[in-house]
Amino acid sequence: MGDKSENTASMATQPEDLSEEQAKAELARLADEILRHDALYHQQDTPEISDADYDSLKRRNDAIEARFPELVREDSPSVRVGAEPAAGFSKIRHSVPMLSLGNAFADEDVTEFLARIRRFLGLGEDAEIAVLAEPKIDGLSCALRYENGKLMHAATRGDGSTGEDITANVQTVTGVPKTLSGTGWPTVLEIRGEVFMRRDDFRQLNERQEARGGKIFANPRNAAAGSLRQLDATITASRPLTFYAYAWGEVSEPLGQTMMQVRENMTRWGFTINEPGRLCESVEEILAFYGEIGAARAEMPHDIDGVVYKVDRLDLQERLGFVSRAPRWAIAHKFPAEQAETLLREITIQVGRTGALTPVANLEPITVGGVVVSRATLHNEDEIARKDIREGDRVVIQRAGDVIPQVVSVLLDHRPKDSEPFKVREVCPECGSAAIRETDEAVRRCTGGLICPAQSVERLKHFVSRNAFDIEGLGDKQVKFFFEKELIKKPGDIFRLADKDAKSLTPLRKQAGWGKQSAENLFAAIEARRQISLDRLIFALGIRQIGQTTARLLAKTYGSLEKLRDTMDRANDRESDAYEELINVDGIGPAMADDLLAFFAEQHNREVLDDLAAELAVEDYVVEEASDSPVSGKTVVFTGKLETLGRSEAKAKAEALGAKVAGSVSKKTDFVVVGTDAGSKARKAEELGLTLFSELEWLEFISAEG
Ligand code: IVH
Repeated sequence: MGDKSENTASMATQPEDLSEEQAKAELARLADEILRHDALYHQQDTPEISDADYDSLKRRNDAIEARFPELVREDSPSVRVGAEPAAGFSKIRHSVPMLSLGNAFADEDVTEFLARIRRFLGLGEDAEIAVLAEPKIDGLSCALRYENGKLMHAATRGDGSTGEDITANVQTVTGVPKTLSGTGWPTVLEIRGEVFMRRDDFRQLNERQEARGGKIFANPRNAAAGSLRQLDATITASRPLTFYAYAWGEVSEPLGQTMMQVRENMTRWGFTINEPGRLCESVEEILAFYGEIGAARAEMPHDIDGVVYKVDRLDLQERLGFVSRAPRWAIAHKFPAEQAETLLREITIQVGRTGALTPVANLEPITVGGVVVSRATLHNEDEIARKDIREGDRVVIQRAGDVIPQVVSVLLDHRPKDSEPFKVREVCPECGSAAIRETDEAVRRCTGGLICPAQSVERLKHFVSRNAFDIEGLGDKQVKFFFEKELIKKPGDIFRLADKDAKSLTPLRKQAGWGKQSAENLFAAIEARRQISLDRLIFALGIRQIGQTTARLLAKTYGSLEKLRDTMDRANDRESDAYEELINVDGIGPAMADDLLAFFAEQHNREVLDDLAAELAVEDYVVEEASDSPVSGKTVVFTGKLETLGRSEAKAKAEALGAKVAGSVSKKTDFVVVGTDAGSKARKAEELGLTLFSELEWLEFISAEG
């Protein structure tokens, strides 16, 4: 790019005045330029030119191509779908997040699922809850957006908030109507469902692939994923994919009052739904259906990995809402894990980011449920001792869903004569420091802390992982590479990488496995993450016990990094208000508080965090939609038995309105909602002269603003 040879024409030259050679060069320039703007717009959200200017670039490209059809490039912006191949798909933000489902394995998990729903809704133990049960297809979820009955966009699930634009690819998937049939569909209708490959189609595809020396897929799910996520939509078109509908996202009008009605409507509008579906009224009916589907599983035309149960009434779904990333009103009941036998070659020790040592079984590779497995977790040394697992044993392994494969048992008949029990390793295999077990702890930990390279690398991997900084192009392999080259030792280094590279005698683009484009893409992806949400940052720090949910809770409670750090400093004094406030946050107990405070008190962590914060623009956590609610920003305590709302529903509702829900009464409490049989908390609230509400008064109070 940027060459100024005679063949290059300026933007001012009209298409009709270009020579053939100039046209060729100009088309190349436009392809590059438009690609760059696509990436700026779709991937980095930082467009450099107006939409009108962008359109005029595209029009110029089209006009030149119309004059010189033989010069149309393979990567021309006029034939490219979505983003340019090398740059990947463009992104689509889901206006309603695409969530996943909680899992049930045992029958009791299903009973507990229903009990939890009854408790949440404040219903009696015997209250009937109708549930739709349908097979869980093993494919990829996909969202189809229709406006005025026309298919406008299609997106993958991605990370749940943002997916990839697969509009072009989805056109050839069976079961995706381009225009809706029937009547009565809402103007805006986003249908969600599964894209998958039928088993017979999968076999035929693999035969064809084999014949022409192409890639052989391990199972239909992988084949479907590999086929749908093709940058070249003509490849997708040659792969037999199917779509079944089972859920929805943004809709301008309700789709019905029950799941059963929605299923009927979806069918009328031209979608295929997931059969057989059955409305069940009790646990017994649910489990009977699960048994039937399990028995019919092998004969199904496609792979299924369980049965999904969903509360039938949509008004109840609405009340139940979500926990973290999954709805309270649905659950996936998985089929039992698949098992296989193989040889355990060696037991090695893996060091995690908190120094925990995990024994790992290295296996002779074997296919289990369509996936090749060569490693399985052994959990900890007690587990090895309990099952007496030894190197050289033949073992039974199993894998269920996305869970890490496990060693179930040893086949003692096959044990070699010279076999020896596993010996516990008392030093860290990575740094040689002592590895010790605290009393009451199942895990052994490396005491090397900051000098242990394995821990540092694991912490960095966690820092850039999907739910943390999520830096594209900076995965486990790259983190290790940069760590070994001493370019990234601590999180802040990531954001100085581009600067350092610019001054380096051996820049990244000249190193094995890297090129100009991949290096630039990486620096752009890092740059895009300088601005980060507070909850992601907290999660990324990898503090023990602080997962995504707690990170979000902390972000919500303290609002900004400064306030969080300041509070943590003050809370180190266990007599302080700050400490009381911290352990009063519903969801944070004393043990968690200990780990949090220890993290923020550690001098090295403070330095690492200062160094990192200087590189970032951390977004404050903003509580949305709640500003005009009478309880926004207030602290509420619920005590006693609530009649209309279940306790969890009351809490969820208050939080949705911007309130903080605390577990105990203090002078910081604003409101106390007193149910029946309330005890000491209600008394304490009265003593402190706080505002007390009955449940009914509370409901009126929070609905006051409509
Ligand atoms: S309902 C809020 N129904 O399973 C999510 N999901 O593990 C509502 N899936 O991401 C999903 N068959 O891709 C639903 N009949 C079915 C399904 C189904 C397959 C997938 C879906 C989801 C995943 C969760």
